[in-house]
Formats: sequence, structure tokens, C-alpha cells
Amino acid sequence: MLRDAFAVAERAAEIFIQTANSAIELNRSFSVALSGGSTPKALFELLALEENASQVDWRFVHIFWSDERCVQPDDEQSNYRMANEALLKHVSIPQSQIHRIRGEDEPKTSATNYEQELINHFGSDEPRFDLILLGMGDDGHTASIFPNTTAVYETEKLVTAPFVEKFKSYRLTFTFKTINAAKKNLFLVTGASKAETLKRVLSEATKDLPASLVKPVNGELIWLTDEYASQV
Ligand code: 6PG
Repeated sequence: MLRDAFAVAERAAEIFIQTANSAIELNRSFSVALSGGSTPKALFELLALEENASQVDWRFVHIFWSDERCVQPDDEQSNYRMANEALLKHVSIPQSQIHRIRGEDEPKTSATNYEQELINHFGSDEPRFDLILLGMGDDGHTASIFPNTTAVYETEKLVTAPFVEKFKSYRLTFTFKTINAAKKNLFLVTGASKAETLKRVLSEATKDLPASLVKPVNGELIWLTDEYASQV
């Protein structure tokens, strides 16, 4: 448990850089999936600072997303837009290595296409990310695997497009199959509004709380939380 959201972002930046350098040293490649929402913005802004960005050889980094909203890439709701503004346009990463989820396309087509992009990149239908960043909503969702959606029950696909009633819209998301295959899953959870849910997620494993079902098959699971989210 860390002091506050900024301390969580600082620690996450350290883990990102260390994981990237280990992967690049071993494989000359680092494949990472970014999370969306508001929490990771501070992390991305820290990584964009010269003192941090200079510690990563971005020529070997491949950026994916663990989920995306069904919007245009320049929409203020776009997870791609947030990451691009906060980080990607500030580092020298080849555009071809930024694997954006096409939120503007028909959802099911976009999910199928992104799944194929994963398979092409990893050369396998069992993609194994070096790092997947995740957040958690106060309803216990993670990525865009929301409670009571088809995504919770998806066991075959790598990427799916659930309709999310609370937003009256589709989302695009990694499934548990992709998430739990990762070498490292890193949750960033901050703020008092998540405290009650976080306590349950860390003590149960239930479809009502999708974040509680992130259990890497052969990987590391790290929770970075602040005092406010850990207060109960
Ligand atoms: C998204 C995210 C989502 C997010 C949580 C937490 O697209 O919204 O991927 O899973 O991580 O909703 O969001 P906050 O960080 O904004 O609390």
C-alpha cells in the first residue's frame, strides 16, 4: 500500500521500466498492454519525462491496449487518445509498433481484427504479454470485462466486444484468456471510492467482481494501491 495516487504512479513507472528492460535484454522486444480510464494518466506522464523515457529503448517496445471504448481515436473518451497525449507522442516509438484498437469500427469486427493482430504479433494463438496494465472500477470490472456481460463468460476468444448496459454501448476488451496468460499483470487502484470493492476483490473470486478473476496461469500479479483505496 502506497501513500497516494502519485506514489502508485511512481512505483508503476519503476516496474514498467524494469520489466521493459528485462524483456528487451532477453528478447529484444517488450510487448505491453495499456489500461484506460483516468488512473494510468499519471503513470504515462511520468514515463514521458526525459529522466524516465531515456531509460527505455522505445525502438523495441510494442504498445497494445487491454480495452478501448467504441469511439473515434480523437474522442475524449478514447483510451488511445489519452495514452498518446500523455506518453506516446513524447517518445520515439515507431508508429507501426503502436497497435491501436479501432474503436471506430463495428465492434465485433474490430474485436476479431484485434485478435488477429495479437496472433500475428506473437506468432501464436496464445499471446503472452510481458506486461498488462489493469485498473478496477468500483463495480469490480477490469479492462472492459464488466459484471453481467458476455465478456465475463468468454473462454475461447482473446478479444471480445461486450454490450455494457450501464453505458448503453459496446466496449472492446481483452478476455481473461489473454489477461491470465500474461507474464505480469499490474493493477493500479487508487481512491476511497474503490476501497470497499478492493477489499472484496482481494478476498473473493467471483464473476460478480471480474477483477477478482485475474489469476495469471504462469505469471506475476501485482496490486499497486494507495492508502485511500486500502482504508477499509
Ligand atoms: C476503461 C478502463 C477501465 C478502468 C477502470 C478504472 O477503459 O475504463 O480500462 O477498466 O481501468 O474503469 O478507471 P479509472 O482509472 O478511471 O478509475
